[in-house]
Amino acid sequence: MSLRALLSSSSLAMATRVLKCNPSSISFLPSSHEPQISCPETLDSLLEASNHLVDLLRPVAFPTETVYGLGASALSISATSQIFAAKGRPPDNPLIVHVSSLQMLDILLAPGFTIPQPYHKLIRSFWPGALTLLFPSNPDVVPSIVTANLPTVAVRMPSHPVARALIAIANIPLAAPSANSSGKPSPTRPEHVLRDLEGKVGIILDGGPCDVGLESTVVDGLGTDGNIRVLRPGGVTIEDIERALQLDIVAGQRIPQVLVHGRDFRDKEMEDTPTTPGMKYRHYSPAVPVTLLMTLSPPPEKVEAISAANYLADLKNLRQDSSRPFKVGLLASTDSALSMLPLPTDGLEWHRHSMGSKTDLAFAARSLFDGLLTLERDGVDLILVEEVDQRDEGLAVMNRVRKAAGETKWISFC
Ligand code: TXA
Ligand code: MG
Repeated sequence: MSLRALLSSSSLAMATRVLKCNPSSISFLPSSHEPQISCPETLDSLLEASNHLVDLLRPVAFPTETVYGLGASALSISATSQIFAAKGRPPDNPLIVHVSSLQMLDILLAPGFTIPQPYHKLIRSFWPGALTLLFPSNPDVVPSIVTANLPTVAVRMPSHPVARALIAIANIPLAAPSANSSGKPSPTRPEHVLRDLEGKVGIILDGGPCDVGLESTVVDGLGTDGNIRVLRPGGVTIEDIERALQLDIVAGQRIPQVLVHGRDFRDKEMEDTPTTPGMKYRHYSPAVPVTLLMTLSPPPEKVEAISAANYLADLKNLRQDSSRPFKVGLLASTDSALSMLPLPTDGLEWHRHSMGSKTDLAFAARSLFDGLLTLERDGVDLILVEEVDQRDEGLAVMNRVRKAAGETKWISFC
């Protein structure tokens, strides 16, 4: 029985409807959080989704500028527990709460909490946008299922017009993880959500592909040292955060340091709990094995780089079914040393997915999850992902690829 047939015969299955939402028909007046919607179909879709969220207390999948989210009322235990069920998400992995205004943020905060000065700068520079900030949580407002009992709650104000309008119309903060089964790559197109969660979610709002293509940057600025700790690199780059913190510095004022988890600090206690995104659980892995090809960085001590031509030709030896070629997905830049090599065809069939020019790291970010999910759908046997430069969006790209890859190979071109 196919998965689709199995799901529709199961008592848990529900009909999934994909409702069109045209982001360019939604606008916000300057300094207003009220959406103006010019397209009747988009308005109908948003009203129906809002009804699903508020009156039925059911989750809805919706586009954000980073990835698609699976949202439900952050104030309801029953609504948020359905997110965990649909994703198969472990209960100790907390959710990000999405707001559409600073007034909505206020409702979530612990009484008496004063927003630290660096947060004001980050909010001014990046909200609405791909930055998530940790705040002390108020368990009287946000149930502990959302925060996994942590003393903090992660909050972000998305910039995607459909996400902003949906939250504003529903008039409730939405807890929303990425709209994928736990452990899979995050969806960046409505068809990714449908393929993964059909029968498990009632409504998917189709707002087209996501601009950023990987998740928000998660930042903790609550430490007593006043520094900014980046728990997960993402859509807002470290370079952008450093620049924002330097704005309007007056003489004698200290600029907070920006410390990146895994690069500048580690925290054993945190790594044992899932508060560092992607630490405890398997992440971002398609159903197909992924190999990371390190083509820029030198190999670690005692590891030898393999010649690129030999590595590619030897892939045919992985073939288990000699009646057909071994299908290899290649997620690579268009102008890298690897992309210049002729691809061997003996016993191999190649499926390329472009990561754009090696200097366009925003394009690489937009292409990564889309590429993994597209190549998985195309039925390849193995996906090769080429290393990108670890600056700007490249840091987040490499963070996700390392977690998705079961194997890493160092490749040389001489
Ligand atoms: O761009 C995004 O952030 C997307 C869109 C939908 O907004 N959301 C997203 O959610 O990526 P999710 O659940 O896939 O990843 C959020 C990560 C979780 O892995 C969790 O570990 C971390 O944020 N997180 C949530 N609350 C936290 C907290 N209080 N402290 C530390 N980390 C937290
Ligand atoms: Mg996720």
